[in-house]
Amino acid sequence: MKGIILAGGSGTRLFPLTISVSKQLLPVYDKPMIYYPLSILMLAGIRDILIITTPKDQLAFTELLGDGSRFGCCFDYAIQENPNGLAEAFIIGESFIGQDSVCLILGDNIFYGGGLQKILMNSVKAVKEENKAVVFGSYVQDPFRYGVVEFNKEHTVINIEEKPEKPKSNYAVVGLYFYPNSVIEIAKKVKPSKRGELEITSVNKEYLLNQELMVEILSRGFAWLDTGTHEALMEANEFVKALERRTGLKIGCLEEIAFNYGWINKKEVSSNIQGYKGDYYCYIRDKVLIDVS
Ligand code: DAU
Repeated sequence: MKGIILAGGSGTRLFPLTISVSKQLLPVYDKPMIYYPLSILMLAGIRDILIITTPKDQLAFTELLGDGSRFGCCFDYAIQENPNGLAEAFIIGESFIGQDSVCLILGDNIFYGGGLQKILMNSVKAVKEENKAVVFGSYVQDPFRYGVVEFNKEHTVINIEEKPEKPKSNYAVVGLYFYPNSVIEIAKKVKPSKRGELEITSVNKEYLLNQELMVEILSRGFAWLDTGTHEALMEANEFVKALERRTGLKIGCLEEIAFNYGWINKKEVSSNIQGYKGDYYCYIRDKVLIDVS
């Protein structure tokens, strides 16, 4: 399975923070925001990853992440000229995806919770073995800001609406989507919505109509953090800080994941971070490289 991180958009709600810096490069406590969605793709076992950015931000992302070999991965880069909508990711990424299945994650979505790895692995399996699309619903207090799931009395999903004025439930569809290869053709047929975007919700509705959509509900112990407003961004910072300080373990440490999955060895980690200072790298030295002589 291939992975795509959509890290474009104009970030206007965070101006002036995002006038000259891409939103997905803003710090979330001790690392750039994009590390978090990247870590989710890696935890799902996905190593071939396309990073889609605006034209002006691409250089900064390549400087930060390179070709991915530092993390045992292979990164490609592509440009989205205008924020035409999330579904455009599959059109831009068509040749990158090739004949494979694909997982799309939004570059500003942060996930944390027990059993995450299993949820991700099961989703990859459902796509590969059952040819299903998999999306996730998370309970929120402001569903009108998101794609919202509607259930019938039997708790079966019967519809998904994008930013409804009157949401039919409190379950928002999060920015993490697993699809079979058919998503490319489905995305190509999507027509722009009233707000002029190729909506991911239109893609999901097509799978729902064809009875090929699995909507997994994330349990209430699971954290899905949005970073769309100044408050939300600050809360995400506080959340990561509190967890990391309490446990002494890092969320979204890419080198650690790559090492644990056997994608890079200690020698490689050690040489990749040589000369790098700061907490993040001290953590890697303490946790990953502890017995390297
Ligand atoms: O966060 C989950 C929600 O993401 C879903 O519940 C909605 O169904 C989905 O439409 C989307 O909601 P938003 O419309 O609020 O997404 P937003 O426009 O904030 O874009 C999400 C991220 O994707 C953001 O970091 C910017 C980036 N983006 C957005 C668009 C429209 C792009 O890179 N390119 C784009 O064309």
